[in-house]
Amino acid sequence: MNKTIVITGGAGFIGSHVVRQFVSNYPDHTIVNIDKLTYAGNLENLRDIENQKNYRFEKTDIVLQDELNEIFNKYKVQGVIHLAAESHVDRSIENPMDFVHTNVTGTVNLLNACLKQWDNDYKGKLFYHISTDEVFGSLNREGYFVESTPYDPKSPYSASKASSDHFVRAYYNTYKIPVIISNCSNNYGPNQFPEKLIPLSVNNIKNNRPIPVYGKGENIRDWLYVIDHARAIDTIYHHGKKGQTYNIGGNNEWKNIDLIQLLCKVMDKKLGRKEGTSEKLITFVKDRAGHDLRYAIDSSKLRKELGWEPSVTFEQGLEMTVDWYLKNEGWINRITSGKYETYYEKQYKLR
Ligand code: NAD
Ligand code: DAU
Repeated sequence: MNKTIVITGGAGFIGSHVVRQFVSNYPDHTIVNIDKLTYAGNLENLRDIENQKNYRFEKTDIVLQDELNEIFNKYKVQGVIHLAAESHVDRSIENPMDFVHTNVTGTVNLLNACLKQWDNDYKGKLFYHISTDEVFGSLNREGYFVESTPYDPKSPYSASKASSDHFVRAYYNTYKIPVIISNCSNNYGPNQFPEKLIPLSVNNIKNNRPIPVYGKGENIRDWLYVIDHARAIDTIYHHGKKGQTYNIGGNNEWKNIDLIQLLCKVMDKKLGRKEGTSEKLITFVKDRAGHDLRYAIDSSKLRKELGWEPSVTFEQGLEMTVDWYLKNEGWINRITSGKYETYYEKQYKLR
């Protein structure tokens, strides 16, 4: 059956991989990308698929309810995969209200657009909300986040994502709108904006700039290749149970300093530098305020019930990622000129 699926935030890092996957895998479905094109949104990420017959782009701010209602009516939308968000923890510490507007109000507006368009006819409809492991808070050295772990967000970013998750569940309970939520760990891969640890470090190593490591580099994250996240989203969208939550993770924990050292080794090899050259760029800087120590996801529910597994190891994924950034110098140079430099100066002068 032909369907129209809205993907919000489709010009961003993860969203662009999800849009590509759905446009390519489901030629009978129309995929409508709703994106405001903030600093993090980049249509260049979608150049290869922008002329496909089943792809549409609507430049809209999800904070604007009337515009969303119009788009939902225009396309008779049946499914939503909601990724649009302010996504960077450091920016949420500087400007929490941006996160309240987009992540909370924007999500509620989208739920309202679905309620209005679907008008109690929920057959074949789904609102799939993309959330994060950060809503569960911070772990010590032991244990994992499971789907029933109580929410305990610690940053303005994670508090806004937790709030949006609560609204999604409240709409399921109150209005019976069909929803699914997934909570994923840290993503890495092509097209990630270079304010996040891996692309920022790749870019700095390439340009012989200091690699800023917060605190002592002891914090731990669980890393997943972005295409494996997009594959998980596809699986959950089509086979997940309504009203359920699924954790997605790579089972791949790295202390920040160990990850950066590995990245330096990979980059030395790729750039033909003597081993140990890039490590000298590591610079310990002032810690992030309220820095969560450790995230670790138990994704066994998704693996057992829906049969999803990551397709690449971290070593393979990291190598593919470095290759992509080195090959796509133009992409990163266009992003890091102009406003990025102003952000960078402000952010790292503070530390
Ligand atoms: P990103 O910052 O790269 O992209 C966000 C996209 O949303 C951009 O294209 C931006 O233009 C768009 N957007 C922002 N505000 C908008 C608004 N008001 N209206 C319309 N569009 C708007 O983010 P990402 O890293 O790709 O993350 C995507 C989603 O996945 C987010 O919801 C994030 O919380 C979640 N997530 C991210 C990670 C990760 O490691 N990056 C991990 C787990 C979950
Ligand atoms: O866990 C999922 C989350 O992962 C997503 O919900 C967020 O959208 C995404 O941004 C990411 O959040 P983090 O804060 O973990 O990602 P970030 O890349 O900013 O930082 C990763 C770790 O590296 C974290 O411990 C902070 C540290 N760090 C980060 C930067 C940018 C540094 O040491 N130096 C840096 O310059």
